[in-house]
Amino acid sequence: MILVTGGAGFIGSNFVLDWLAQSDEPVLNLDALTYAGNLENLASLAGDARHVFVHGSIADADLLARLLAEHQPRAVVNFAAESHVDRSIHGPEDFIQTNIVGTFRLLEAVRAYYATLADVEREAFRFLHVSTDEVYGSLEKDAPAFSETHRYEPNSPYSASKAASDHLVRAYHHTYGLPVLTTNCSNNYGPFHFPEKLIPLVIHNALAGKPLPIYGDGQQIRDWLYVKDHCSAIRRVLAAGRLGEVYNVGGWNEKANLEVVHTLCDLLDELSPRADGQSYRCQITYVADRPGHDRRYAIDARKLEQELGWKPAETFSTGMRKTVRWYLDHPQWVANVTSGSYRDWVGQQYGADKA
Ligand code: NAD
Ligand code: TYD
Repeated sequence: MILVTGGAGFIGSNFVLDWLAQSDEPVLNLDALTYAGNLENLASLAGDARHVFVHGSIADADLLARLLAEHQPRAVVNFAAESHVDRSIHGPEDFIQTNIVGTFRLLEAVRAYYATLADVEREAFRFLHVSTDEVYGSLEKDAPAFSETHRYEPNSPYSASKAASDHLVRAYHHTYGLPVLTTNCSNNYGPFHFPEKLIPLVIHNALAGKPLPIYGDGQQIRDWLYVKDHCSAIRRVLAAGRLGEVYNVGGWNEKANLEVVHTLCDLLDELSPRADGQSYRCQITYVADRPGHDRRYAIDARKLEQELGWKPAETFSTGMRKTVRWYLDHPQWVANVTSGSYRDWVGQQYGADKA
């Protein structure tokens, strides 16, 4: 089996669902079920013996040692993290604890477990660390996209904590010979995306008749990838990536935030028009910019494409349409995840009257 951490979050749950749709190899899913973890994402696996869920933290050394000894995974895929930049600005502590200390504890546990394996199992074992393009910092308008050798220049507590975890993973390869792989992916979107991030937040607010908040001038650029394409890239790197290597993952879809929001409004106008006939664009509202807001991210994915033959299946246009449809078809999922503590977050970030 494989051990997946953070498999109840946005990308992790998509990964687990896709993995078990394509393979009978069981998944041991370790997730702390923070506000971002949601077992409802995995409801379709209820009663499926191939999915073993454990509620716990990657920072729990005893639990990790026990799980690894008991289940003997042949690979670990580490998604577990605090992942929202704005939350890292309000409170960096959890990011340090999970992304740095947690990754360190996981590496330590895996190092000890790896030492117990027979030669043939050691040969096959992999530790894949899922990271982000945000570790590379912000690009000037005309600068080439981030390659794997771009220097690390993280600008937010989130990206700094992910950068630190990447460095630890690298060090465990060079120092202890742990067979690691690292992927640095651009912004994801798709099903089960928590509505604190731009795309699901805009869909949710649009349908609720609330403002669509654009930070600053809305001309910041992100490089968008449909989540299932990220999952297929991780499967490919896990299967064939060269040990110790880093692979950038992206779909060559650079878009300014305002353009993304316009696309969402246009899709919603078509698929679920407002009762008054106006476009959802009338709900767009400019709000204060994010402190230290990175201006542009762009991923050069040629290494992954040329070395491992990976290609995304979705374009920005097909992926966005699927995403909007998914949210329209799953109002109960949205209602469940936006109750309770979600309101506290919206109040803190956008003002009490917006909660
Ligand atoms: P998410 O916030 O939706 O999910 C994170 C998951 O990790 C949740 O299920 C949460 O409960 C779990 N978790 C948090 N702390 C934990 C701990 N201490 N132990 C075990 N589980 C814990 O995040 P996501 O968007 O799915 O991102 C997954 C990974 O991919 C992260 O490492 C993130 O840095 C990386 N990534 C995300 C994006 C993106 O656009 N979302 C892009 C590139 C890379
Ligand atoms: P986000 O989805 O938080 O991802 P990240 O910060 O990791 O790239 O934000 C994507 C972009 O959208 C980013 O430039 C910030 C911007 N943004 C807004 O303009 N308004 C919002 O309400 C949010 C959540 C994000």
